[in-house]
Amino acid sequence: MKTILVTGGTGYIGSHTVVELLNLNYEVVIIDNLSNSKEMVLDRIEKITGKRPKFYKGDIRSREDLNKIFKENKIDCVINFAGLKAVGESVRMPLEYYENNIYGAVVLLEEMKKNGVFNFIFSSSATVYGDPASVPVDETFPTGGTTNPYGTTKLFIERILQDLAVAEPEFNICILRYFNPIGAHPSGLMGEDPNGIPNNLAPYITQVMVGKREKLNIFGDDYDTPDGTCIRDYIHVCDLAYGHVCAIKKLEEKPGVVVYNLGTGKGSSVFDILHAFEKAYGKPIPYSVAPRRAGDVTANYTKVDKAAKEIGFTAKYNIEDMARDAWNWQKNNPNGYEE
Ligand code: NAD
Ligand code: UFG
Repeated sequence: MKTILVTGGTGYIGSHTVVELLNLNYEVVIIDNLSNSKEMVLDRIEKITGKRPKFYKGDIRSREDLNKIFKENKIDCVINFAGLKAVGESVRMPLEYYENNIYGAVVLLEEMKKNGVFNFIFSSSATVYGDPASVPVDETFPTGGTTNPYGTTKLFIERILQDLAVAEPEFNICILRYFNPIGAHPSGLMGEDPNGIPNNLAPYITQVMVGKREKLNIFGDDYDTPDGTCIRDYIHVCDLAYGHVCAIKKLEEKPGVVVYNLGTGKGSSVFDILHAFEKAYGKPIPYSVAPRRAGDVTANYTKVDKAAKEIGFTAKYNIEDMARDAWNWQKNNPNGYEE
């Protein structure tokens, strides 16, 4: 496969994946409606790789936008990052989430089919496991029990993809269930740039470090874990980006539909992450303990065996690398991609 259409390619995970693809000499075409990203990302991608991906400002819900791309480019594979992803917002605006994420994915798949493109990689999430009965989770664990509409969009799209694979054997589909992507490109030129107050742990911490927020609020220290805070499987965004290359290679084997968890296999608590950032910072980071956040599960981390064995994916960065790179990005770009 040579030419990859990356939807949502100017977003956080998409942009890092585009860099990885360009470095490996894939041709990249991006479609993004810039609802949660900036066009300036393209300059940064070019600075890092020396190449500028072809960019279409457009929407995956627009058949016209998609057809233009499929007519003008010979696409071999689509990676679908485009979607809304804020858990709290999805509770307030469920219809927007179902429309953008699910309808968007359906339109994209229909237009792929019409245009004879049958390789698809989908950004799913560990959230489809709900509150897992035990950890580590593997890909055979039951899905369901999502606690918010965002998570439910991932669950439903996975189900649609399974049904599609049965009905249309020409499709080859790889569902990637990401655990917690954090970190940034080591160059300090690309990273996570959330709008408003960050919902997620790592960008909140880096905004405290850069002086934009007063202190971290730790949502609960009375969970049944060694230090009382929740445990997650944080994965460096560059490792995650590489996971998509592994998925593309797998699709070349025409496997039908396959599912992989992408994580490191290591669980880290909120305090472990805070300490990793303190190490990068060289001084303490202010925090206080706040009440639990609704919908948080105690622990979620993955088994890595299936991805290692079947697609050769192993994460190489640890949480200290993630903290160092996230801090490097934030300190060089205190206002993200703003000029
Ligand atoms: P992001 O918001 O940075 O990137 C998504 C991109 O999609 C944005 O650039 C946005 O402008 C674009 N977009 C949204 N709707 C669109 C539409 N209808 N048409 C065209 N473009 C559209 O998010 P991210 O963190 O890079 O996540 C990428 C994907 O991975 C998402 O599907 C997300 O749900 C999934 N995911 C993310 C995480 C995480 O923690 N970041 C975890 C699991 C899964
Ligand atoms: N946390 C804090 N303070 C904060 C932010 C987070 O203590 O300001 C804690 C949370 O309570 C949780 C941990 O840090 O224990 C991680 O929280 P994140 O919001 O960073 O990540 P989540 O695991 O809640 O959610 C992430 C993605 C979702 C995805 C989910 C899958 O944001 O999109 O992983 O498990 F669905």
